[in-house]
Amino acid sequence: MVKICCIGAGYVGGPTMAVIALKCPKIEVAVVDISVSRIAAWNGDQLPIYEPGLEDVVTQCRGRNLFFSTDIEKHVAEADIVFVSVNTPTKTQGLGAGKAADLTYWESAARMIANVSNSNKIVVEKSTVPVKTAEAIEKILTHNSREIKYQILSNPEFLAEGTAIQDLFNPDRVLIGGRETPEGQKAIQALKDVYAHWVPEDRIITTNLWSAELSKLAANAFLAQRISSVNAMSALCEATGADVTQVSHAIGKDTRIGPRFLNSSVGFGGSCFQKDILNLVYICECNGLTEVANYWKQVIKVNDYQKNRFVNRIVSSMFNTVSGKKIAILGFAFKKDTGDTRETPAIDVCKGLLGDKAKLSIYDPQVTEDQIQRDLSMKKFDWDHPIHLQPMSPPASKQVSVVWDAYQAAKDAHGVCILTEWDEFKTLDYQKIFDNMRKPAYIFDGRNILDVEKLREIGFIVYSIGKPLDPWHKDTLAVA
Ligand SMILES: NC(=O)c1ccc[n+]([C@@H]2O[C@H](COP(=O)([O-])OP(=O)(O)OC[C@H]3O[C@@H](n4cnc5c(N)ncnc54)[C@H](O)[C@@H]3O)[C@@H](O)[C@H]2O)c1
Repeated sequence: MVKICCIGAGYVGGPTMAVIALKCPKIEVAVVDISVSRIAAWNGDQLPIYEPGLEDVVTQCRGRNLFFSTDIEKHVAEADIVFVSVNTPTKTQGLGAGKAADLTYWESAARMIANVSNSNKIVVEKSTVPVKTAEAIEKILTHNSREIKYQILSNPEFLAEGTAIQDLFNPDRVLIGGRETPEGQKAIQALKDVYAHWVPEDRIITTNLWSAELSKLAANAFLAQRISSVNAMSALCEATGADVTQVSHAIGKDTRIGPRFLNSSVGFGGSCFQKDILNLVYICECNGLTEVANYWKQVIKVNDYQKNRFVNRIVSSMFNTVSGKKIAILGFAFKKDTGDTRETPAIDVCKGLLGDKAKLSIYDPQVTEDQIQRDLSMKKFDWDHPIHLQPMSPPASKQVSVVWDAYQAAKDAHGVCILTEWDEFKTLDYQKIFDNMRKPAYIFDGRNILDVEKLREIGFIVYSIGKPLDPWHKDTLAVA
C-alpha cells in the first residue's frame, strides 16, 4: 500500500489530502502538523477551516485511510511520498524583508525529513515557493542523508478557497515538475498515478522543476493583475459616469479576454496574491530585472489604492469625519464561503476607519470575534505563521464590537459597508435596516452585490464601486 504523508494541515494540506484519500481508497494518507490545536480540530466535530463540502469528504475517510496526527516523525518515516504544505510567509526582517519568502518552516520540515527517513522518498513541494527552492531542498536532503535517495517534485496547488473541494474534484489542471533524469521521470509518474485516480490524463501537465515553481507565482500574478486592472477602471468609471459592471461585461465577451475575474471590488485579499507577487518582485530584482519587478509591484499598489479610495469615499461623504459615528461592517472574510481573513481588504478598510475614530460594528457569518480583534491589531505579515506562534489575542478594542446579526450591526449606524460578497447580504431587508439607521443613511457596497436603484428608492445614499455616482458623492469628491 502506498503511504502518503503531508506536513502542514492548513487550508491546502487538509482539503487536498482529504480528496486524495477519498479518491484513492488504497492509499493511506496521514496529515501532520506542529499545531496540536489544529490537529485536534481536524479530529473533532468542528473542522479548523470552513469550506463547503469539506466536512462530508473528511467524515467519509477519516479513520479509514485518512489520519490527522502530531506524530510527524513517525508518519514521515513511514511514507513513500511526503508532501510539504507549510507556511511560506513574507520575510519581515533581514535580507529581502517585506518581499522575499521566508523559508524557515520549509527548511525545518526538510531537515526533519532528512533526520527521520530510512527509506527512499519522493518529496513534493505543495507550498508556493520561490523558483529554485527545490534545488535548496535537494541540497539539505542529500547533504544530510544516509544512503537515502530523494526525488523532489514541484506540485503547486491551484485551488481557490471557498470552492476548494470543487476545484480539487475537477481541477483545470494538475501541474507536476520534476528533474529530467530517469529517476525524476519515475517520480513524476508515481505522483501522476495518484492523481490519475480521478483527474483525466490530459489535464495532468508535467514540466521541469523551475517551470512548475514559476507557473504558480505567474498564475497568481495574472489573476491579481486582472482584479487590479478592473479596479483601476472602476476609478475611471466613477470619474466619467461609465458603469464598471457594463464595461466588464462588454470586455469579457471578447473570447481573448473572457468573463471571469473581472468583478470590481474593494480589492483582492487572501493569503496568496500579495505574498506571491512580492515574492515574484523579489526574484525579478535579484535577477536585475527592475522594469519587470516594477510592473508587478504596480498590481499591489493599485490594490492598496482601491482600499484607500474606499475609505476616503466613506469619510468624505460623511462630512469629512467619521469620528464617533457607528459604521456597520458586513463581511470580514476575504471572500464569501470561507472564514479565512488573511490579508482581507476588510482589515485595511477597518483600520482606515478606526484611524478616523469611527466605531465599528462588524458581522461576518464565519469569522469569530477573537479572529477579528487579532487581525485588527496584528502587524503586517504576522498572520502567516503557525497559529501557536502568532501573537496572543490582544485586549478587545473599545471602538470595535462584533455581533452575530447584520440587523444588529446596522442598528443606529450612520453607514453600512459591504466588504464580503456573502449571498445572505443580497437578500437582507434593507427597508428594515434603513428604518433603524441614523439619517442620512449611507450604504457603501464594496462588492457590487446590491441593487443600487432599489436602495436609492428606500432613501439610502449609495456608493457602489465603479458605478455612476450619487449626486451626494459628486459634491464630496474624495481625494485618494
Ligand atoms: N490558502 C490557499 O488558498 C493556497 C492555495 C495554493 C497554495 N497555497 C500555498 O500553500 C502553502 C500553505 O498554505 P495554507 O493556506 O495551507 O497555510 P496554513 O497556514 O493554513 O497551513 C500551514 C500549516 O503548516 C504547519 N506547519 C508549519 N511549519 C511546520 C512544520 N515544520 N511541521 C509541521 N507543520 C508545520 C502550520 O502549523 C500550519 O497549520 C503556502 O505556501 C501557500 O502559499 C495556499
